[in-house]
Amino acid sequence: MYFNLWSRDFLKKSYINDINKELILFYKTIQNNKALSLLITELEILEDKFNKSKKRDVLFLAWREQFNQLLKKNNSRSITKKEKIEISALLISLNKTCFNGVYRKNKSGEFNVPFSKKFKEEVSFFDLENIKNINKSFENTVIENLSFEKVIDFRKIKKNHLVFFDPPYLPVSRTSDFSSYYDDGFTEIEHQKLSELLIKINDIGAYFILTNSDSQKTKEVYLSDNKFFNINVNVRRSINQKGLSNKPDATQELIITNFKSFNT
Ligand SMILES: C[S@@+](CC[C@H](N)C(=O)[O-])C[C@H]1O[C@@H](n2cnc3c(N)ncnc32)[C@H](O)[C@@H]1O
Repeated sequence: MYFNLWSRDFLKKSYINDINKELILFYKTIQNNKALSLLITELEILEDKFNKSKKRDVLFLAWREQFNQLLKKNNSRSITKKEKIEISALLISLNKTCFNGVYRKNKSGEFNVPFSKKFKEEVSFFDLENIKNINKSFENTVIENLSFEKVIDFRKIKKNHLVFFDPPYLPVSRTSDFSSYYDDGFTEIEHQKLSELLIKINDIGAYFILTNSDSQKTKEVYLSDNKFFNINVNVRRSINQKGLSNKPDATQELIITNFKSFNT
């Protein structure tokens, strides 16, 4: 959403936030020109190593282990600048070579997605043009690493501003739980709090868009007072596969807004 709006010149000033430390570290690395050039060099080294390796699965596990050690260090705040670049480079490398590009951590906060066995040929870890565009898009953007309730600042949100939310997904059924890829827990209580924030945003005269699973619970939490609108969409989840969202494995999601149509 952010990159799409930026590429169409709709954003004057933006704020991005996520509670995931390594994701935000990665964004901040891209935002900083010096850190970005170090990241690109590191990525070229890792990409070359992977493509030349005869034991890609072993290399993947070694990277995963190294990444998890660095995450622990990042939590203890004793991390160096060089190690921060290493976290960002490994984050991309693991994302490009793990099963379906999924990001999931266990209860101890370790990334635990297995290697994707399908890689037999050359793998491209990044697109230089794209990463430079991302850097450009962050020029006038504040990037934060807080829980949503701390980051939403009603002194800053004004009439006609847009706030986009993509929170962890409410489970579609009792057995499914898509939200298990984040470590800090986002329960129904957080969804309730978020729905209260939406009402406040609406009252200010600002716009919001929220995406979530197409579940009964989502409708109960966010649409119970018939104030807001919802649109059903088909999406495809595996991010390192090329494909269209109308394929049979697409899932239904909801877009909830306080405005009726997207006339862009
Ligand atoms: C459905 S994902 C959306 C990811 C992001 N929009 C993207 O496209 O990469 C949900 C995100 O919510 C973040 N999250 C979980 N709990 C949060 C909280 N309390 N405050 C802010 N972000 C949170 C997770 O780290 C995860 O990145």
